[in-house]
Amino acid sequence: MGEVIAIINQKGGCGKTTTNVNLATSLALLDKKVLLIDLDPQGNATTAFGIEKSEIKNTSYSLLIKDSTITETMIPYNLEGLFIVPSNIGLSGAERELGNLIGSEFILSEVIQPVKDSFDYIFIDVPPSLGLLTLNAIYAADSVIIPIQAEFYALEGMLDLLKTINLVEDRLKSETNIKGILITLYDSRTNLARDVVADVNEFFNGKEYIFKTKIPRNIKLAEAPSRRKPCIIYDPESAGTEAYVKLAKEIIKMDG
Ligand SMILES: Nc1ncnc2c1ncn2[C@@H]1O[C@H](COP(=O)(O)OP(=O)(O)OP(=O)(O)O)[C@@H](O)[C@H]1O
Ligand SMILES: [Mg+2]
Repeated sequence: MGEVIAIINQKGGCGKTTTNVNLATSLALLDKKVLLIDLDPQGNATTAFGIEKSEIKNTSYSLLIKDSTITETMIPYNLEGLFIVPSNIGLSGAERELGNLIGSEFILSEVIQPVKDSFDYIFIDVPPSLGLLTLNAIYAADSVIIPIQAEFYALEGMLDLLKTINLVEDRLKSETNIKGILITLYDSRTNLARDVVADVNEFFNGKEYIFKTKIPRNIKLAEAPSRRKPCIIYDPESAGTEAYVKLAKEIIKMDG
């Protein structure tokens, strides 16, 4: 049975998309079957895979409004076992359009059911908000990964995020497992980064798993989207690649 993982944090720019793209690709390279759903109107994950946003017909938007099925919407990437559900700005009206429907938070969970068992992992990339798209991702997810940027203000908003996850759990009367907290944009040379890691440890105080793998601040990770490739393919030797492959192995080991 596939595991659906949403990578969430309403804070912008903390590495959600970078983690989705590079973790999904790393897992596919490690022979897992992986689907990445771009549920962000910015379509950054879509671009990162070199998919032309203006040219796609079926998107996560058409999927949510049930104009296309999940199998019609997913695109095979040029790497065995990796598929993408693309997104573009067309998704930006979805929160308003779908918001009034009863059960609008459950749509994603429902529409991905037909392929859940065909994948080992299904990742969901969400926008930086706790709106309807993020709620759909949390409802659809078996677990969430929370990326936290090793910078001042990193923990601001964390209580709201945890509250939202709890709310979903209460409504579903089931557990949304926090798979782990991922430290991103980490620079081991700075005191600030080390302080933030200490703060994160203290905040979660052993209650949540903090991935052993930290993602370093690495220029290749930032460059790769402009070359329309995941970093693992753009620069297989980079420190960014190494970190995401290590994270993928850590996750496989957890699940194994
Ligand atoms: N480890 C890293 N090292 C260097 N640059 C990074 C790293 N992680 C992310 N970036 C860069 O930081 C910016 C924000 O990252 P990313 O888009 O992954 O964040 P996000 O949480 O998805 O943002 P948003 O909330 O807008 O969706 C991007 O330009 C990305 O290339
Ligand atoms: Mg993003």
